[in-house]
Amino acid sequence: MRPVGHTCTRWPATQRNIARDPCDWLVPATGRTDAKLSMPLPAARLMQKDHCVRMDELRQAAIDRLPPPVSEYFNQGSADGITASAAVAAWDNVRFRPRILRDVSVVSTATTVLGRELATPVCVAPTSMHRAAHADGEVATARGAAAAGSLMAVSTNSGRTFEEIGATAAAWWLQCYVLRDRGLTKAIAQRAKAAGASAVVLTADTPVVGRKHNAGKGVWDVVPAGYHMANIDQDGLPDSALDKADDLTPDTISWLREVSGLPVVVKGVLRADDARIVASAGAAAVQVSNHGGRQLDQSVAASDALPEIAAAVQESGAEVYVDGGIRRGEHVLAAIALGARAVFVGRPVLWALTAGGETGQGGSAGVAAVLSQLTAELGHAMALAGARTVSEITSDLVA
Ligand code: FNR
Repeated sequence: MRPVGHTCTRWPATQRNIARDPCDWLVPATGRTDAKLSMPLPAARLMQKDHCVRMDELRQAAIDRLPPPVSEYFNQGSADGITASAAVAAWDNVRFRPRILRDVSVVSTATTVLGRELATPVCVAPTSMHRAAHADGEVATARGAAAAGSLMAVSTNSGRTFEEIGATAAAWWLQCYVLRDRGLTKAIAQRAKAAGASAVVLTADTPVVGRKHNAGKGVWDVVPAGYHMANIDQDGLPDSALDKADDLTPDTISWLREVSGLPVVVKGVLRADDARIVASAGAAAVQVSNHGGRQLDQSVAASDALPEIAAAVQESGAEVYVDGGIRRGEHVLAAIALGARAVFVGRPVLWALTAGGETGQGGSAGVAAVLSQLTAELGHAMALAGARTVSEITSDLVA
């Protein structure tokens, strides 16, 4: 018997190939003034000139534009949403011990992940349904990430093809849900590599999908099939082929590395013992994550799990990333001080894709703006904390 809450992410055959104008459900972005969504640029020399947004206003602007089933899908957590609603406060609760008199006249947010140079440690977490937020979908997100000097993890469920994403010249990784059909999984990974993906993110916290409550219609009732899994030819496949595999083991890491020819990042790690196992099984990196509170409700906050995991893999050389609830530059500073090399943001990118940027029309400009804003806030927080480079953001900065 499938556990409660298991859902197949495939549409019924009757709903596939529904023709529809792209994003014709979006409410036009009108009447938004710069005054409403902007704030003064603090420490302008550290900040990029992008339009600044307050995250809660960006979230509300996205909710105002989207039909309820889509915005519910973007924002919901699993079960009673306890983990999802605690994520931001967990970062807010970190307290700093700032350094003084450190000559912060030059501050750099530049870093590397898996050897790739980036202008920022703020990267794009894998999420699905980008085409529900903007007609250009994941292509717009990739362009926005590239403009901000960031990197994007592209969901297995992407509504745009890997080739289209590869053509943007963005740095990107494939997020991989290992499917019951391993041959299909292998084909997805190899197609992504051929299109330019430089790593595979194995999402390991989803043997079954967390159960979610919908107030009315669900996202699957309103979004056309083509907005999802554009890289999988579903014709002739049994529904079960697309179910997520529930029999993964640490050996899956080496299997995925071999079939893809790419380094593997394991996402969804919340325990030091798992982090050690994953690193010794050949993972190039671990991503501390509770899936944005969308899997096991009442899981620990990523910020609470991060320090023990960073300590556990320190000797192995595996890189450590974190996601979940990161909304401000201070949160990024806290994450790096607690042991992360980079952070990934999920919902803020979806909100920005829907309604970000100077015009409020979202798209690549919106994504670039929110990533640049977080990066600029990080630079500002670094100056205040007395850290000139990302490597100077060390654990002693945290109380
Ligand atoms: C996700 N997440 C996710 N993770 C993954 O590995 N593959 C996926 O396809 C998705 N899809 C997805 C859709 C939506 C709408 C959300 C909100 C999240 C989880 C995601 O990668 C990340 O772990 C969290 O979103 C991080 O939390 P914040 O930044 O959204 O608070």
